[in-house]
Amino acid sequence: MAEFIDPKLVPKRTLSTGEQIPCIGMGTFGSDRFTPEQVSNAVAGAIRCGYRMFDCASVYGNEDLIGKVFADAIQQGVVKREELFITSKVWNDQHGKGEVLLACAKSLRDLQLDYIDAYFMHWPFPNYHRPGCSVDSRDPNSKPFLVEDFMATWRQMERLYDMGLVRNLGMSSMTIPKLEAVLPLCRIKPTVIEMELHPSFQQPELYDYVVAHGIQPIGFCPIGSPTRPDRDKTPEDIADIQMPEVVEIAQAHHVHPAVICLKWAVQRGQIPIPFSIHENEYVSNLKCTIEDPLTDEEMEKLRRADKNCRLIKGQVFLWPGANDWHALWDENGEITK
Ligand SMILES: NC(=O)c1ccc[n+]([C@@H]2O[C@H](COP(=O)([O-])OP(=O)(O)OC[C@H]3O[C@@H](n4cnc5c(N)ncnc54)[C@H](OP(=O)(O)O)[C@@H]3O)[C@@H](O)[C@H]2O)c1
Repeated sequence: MAEFIDPKLVPKRTLSTGEQIPCIGMGTFGSDRFTPEQVSNAVAGAIRCGYRMFDCASVYGNEDLIGKVFADAIQQGVVKREELFITSKVWNDQHGKGEVLLACAKSLRDLQLDYIDAYFMHWPFPNYHRPGCSVDSRDPNSKPFLVEDFMATWRQMERLYDMGLVRNLGMSSMTIPKLEAVLPLCRIKPTVIEMELHPSFQQPELYDYVVAHGIQPIGFCPIGSPTRPDRDKTPEDIADIQMPEVVEIAQAHHVHPAVICLKWAVQRGQIPIPFSIHENEYVSNLKCTIEDPLTDEEMEKLRRADKNCRLIKGQVFLWPGANDWHALWDENGEITK
């Protein structure tokens, strides 16, 4: 029997709506390394050991199996629906008119839910690429970010909120220039934003901007995604779990460096959503939020270890004429066209 961590002991974050959600969730992107069965088995185990937040998405290709796990856990009385915070996301090929409702309806059906707790626009680009394709693949129909296109999709997200099908709206992989352009236009503002956050990529300006706007940051790839496919790695990438600062602090706390990445994330204030199919790992990832916190000195040491090292570069979203992935991230302070 796996260890049980009482969800009441796990710290909470309060969204701008007043709703409280766990300070950590579990990721469910098995990529091409872990099967949907492995991921859904891990979700089942994670519910039993006390996880209450799960980060799902249609493009992860496993919502139907995870939905069965949720339904079984609720039916068997392991957990109540209202105790769970479940997210899903609309993929880029369903931004068109009427398509967001269809995408959400499919996720609701697959996840066997009446409502989704937070529904995200997975990427701010409508550009299609085949899951699992090489980073060199380019879609000739790809377009740069356009405020009008983004808002047309967001209006459909707002309708889902009006209909009570989703309780929070979220954006993902945004930049400050993009947020500056769209936030004033949103009738229903996002309460959560997913962004890549780990010790070697802390995005302090974007993080502060999001928090200052009353939005809760959710950090993806919190351990630096060590199991991401080789095609998504470049020679410059830094492995967070090998950073000397992380390793040294891990030795002092007698834990795996992955756990230090998560303690840092939780104490900083973002909600990390680590992925693992291994019970010993996902148990220690949850447990680390309730014991043996990092000292202020350790937090400061990690803050100074930031390397501005983005791992999820998004090359496949590039449009004709934009050859460098930096264009996706508006690094000159303006929306890149
Ligand atoms: N919004 C977006 O666009 C977006 C983008 C990317 C990811 N996400 C979400 O973020 C989640 C997390 O990102 P990720 O899966 O890429 O990366 P991650 O959580 O940073 O890394 C996952 C890997 O870390 C290792 N690990 C986990 N816990 C560990 C522990 N306690 N000790 C040692 N190793 C440990 C595991 O490797 P081993 O299996 O080798 O042990 C696991 O495969 C995804 O699953 C997904 O839900 C969202």
